[in-house]
Amino acid sequence: MLPSRRLAVPALILLLAGGCDADEPASLQLAGADTRRGQAVILETGCGSCHVIPGVPGAVAWVGPPLTEWARRGYVGGRLPNVPENVVAWLLDPAAISPGSAMPSVGLTEAQARDAAAYLFTIGAARLPPTPAGMPLGSSEGGPRPNPRLRPRA
Ligand code: HEC
Repeated sequence: MLPSRRLAVPALILLLAGGCDADEPASLQLAGADTRRGQAVILETGCGSCHVIPGVPGAVAWVGPPLTEWARRGYVGGRLPNVPENVVAWLLDPAAISPGSAMPSVGLTEAQARDAAAYLFTIGAARLPPTPAGMPLGSSEGGPRPNPRLRPRA
């Protein structure tokens, strides 16, 4: 491995650990988004008719995957690294990321999708492993990953 790469990951982790609040690393925050508004968007949109979503009353369905411990997930829809911008893209148009996905486009505005994604990343954020979601994993966590990609697999 090149020396620059060896230094880059610890440096990034230090950077993330430094300038942000303890529960949510900066990598999991979305500029301008509001987690409380996001919780309301999720409730009003009825995401809970398909998902288990901690903190959202009535969100106890098992049509789609449970969104428990969301901040710790590695991938969105099994396609993209689980970083906030990718979740926004997923919420706006799941089929654009995963053709044939059973999750419908639920008609959120971009602002609503950003708020909803911000809320999802509060779930499980307090129990994040040392490596934030969407970052390369260690060998004990499924092996090293290539650089996070921001577009779907071909
Ligand atoms: C009609 C049912 C339905 C509704 C309504 C719905 N979803 Fe989904 N959702 C699914 C299904 C099914 C999947 C799995 C799709 C896939 O992996 O291709 C999914 C996947 C997801 C994922 C990725 C899960 C993972 O493990 O990768 C997220 C995040 C998500 N939904 C959030 C939401 C949010 C937030 C809302 C409301 C704005 C919502 N969903 C509304 C059915 C639904």
